[in-house]
Amino acid sequence: MQYTEMSKQELSQVKAELQKKYDDLKALGLNLNMARGKPSVDQLDLSMKLLDMLNSSSDMMSSTGMDCRNYGMADGLPEMRDIFSQMMGVEPENVIVGGNSSLNMMFDFISCCMTHGFPGCEPWAKQGHIKFLCPSPGYDRHFAVTEYFGMELITIPMLSTGPDMDMVEELVSQDASIKGIWCVPKYSNPLGITYSDETVRRFAALKPAAKDFRIMWDNAYCVHDLTDTPDQLLNLYEECKKTGNIDMPVIFASTSKISFPGAGVAAMAAGPSNLIVFREHLSFQTIGPDKLNQLRHVMFFKNIDGVREHMKLHRNLIAPKFETVLRYLRTELTGKGVASWTEPNGGYFISVDVMEGCAKRVVSLCKEAGVVLTGAGATYPYGKDPKDSNIRVAPTYPPVSELEQAMEIFCVCVQLAAAEKLLAK
Ligand SMILES: Cc1ncc(COP(=O)(O)O)c(C=O)c1O
Repeated sequence: MQYTEMSKQELSQVKAELQKKYDDLKALGLNLNMARGKPSVDQLDLSMKLLDMLNSSSDMMSSTGMDCRNYGMADGLPEMRDIFSQMMGVEPENVIVGGNSSLNMMFDFISCCMTHGFPGCEPWAKQGHIKFLCPSPGYDRHFAVTEYFGMELITIPMLSTGPDMDMVEELVSQDASIKGIWCVPKYSNPLGITYSDETVRRFAALKPAAKDFRIMWDNAYCVHDLTDTPDQLLNLYEECKKTGNIDMPVIFASTSKISFPGAGVAAMAAGPSNLIVFREHLSFQTIGPDKLNQLRHVMFFKNIDGVREHMKLHRNLIAPKFETVLRYLRTELTGKGVASWTEPNGGYFISVDVMEGCAKRVVSLCKEAGVVLTGAGATYPYGKDPKDSNIRVAPTYPPVSELEQAMEIFCVCVQLAAAEKLLAK
């Protein structure tokens, strides 16, 4: 029965039962974590052979005969550029392979826009008050980068097809101080949705008032499928070629959740004029990337098919965890009007919307009972969820047995917070 349809007496009864369950669970003194989207230990074990790849000096050569132990190849190893080219859907010559983190490359790109900007335009930092669009719920660290550089963050609602494109088109076409938008187009963080073909085409067809408007297209989960019917994302770069907007998209990906987070390989792809600006920026920053890490990744994966095979091993480990979370949500919360959630075909998260005004309370109840969740509000600009409703659940790290305990507590907390809220009215 829907909580909103219960009498005060019925609801008080339900609340008392939930409180009892909650107190019993809290007394177990658990210490569980569903906060950050990290691969589990057994996922990390899948890539251990990568560390044994470089054993003798004859292993150190790239396909071009370059000794990877030395300086050089600022754009990265050709074999690694090939793999990313196929992951990102951009020609290898327009791919720069960087260091260990795509977020680092995004930060550097924005930093370069701030201090140097693009030909014919002032650097962003010299253009006065500037703004960035943040489809929400979204990835907190994206928002944090543009907040760090002093931009005003504008929340764009996420729909089941991607960001609200009516709003994006209207804002971008009228306001030259809007410099860009953050996007996670496939299995978005945290909703797990993939932008529809129409959304991608509308992005490619944008007519921004700002000549230096950029789409930060973070395709972090491009190969992270969890089902036999994976989502298909239309290629923004190809669409932008058709619309003559090739300078707009800047595309990112990494092997963080393929090999090792923090010790993987990241890449960026973009049209030629963006690359001229960014390569110059990089040339002052570094003499070159860590090619030995790139080389051992190439030796381990061999090619894009190797990456896809490896992702099936990840899927075998994490699909049951997603299923566990969803099973609890469906069994415990369906039909009560206390929460709705996404059921993604891939990525790293399940997004739960609890009753309005309850997310902070749920997170704090969970914490008291030993379950750490991503902070309420984290998925919105400035950490402020206007409805105090969204909670990002990250199922990958804990073993299934711990997830079951954590989800039992989570579901009790979601119901308890809703009952408290309704009774307080
Ligand atoms: C959407 C998205 N982009 C980027 C990252 C971080 O990637 P990297 O480790 O390559 O910096 C994450 C990590 O959770 C993410 O969810």
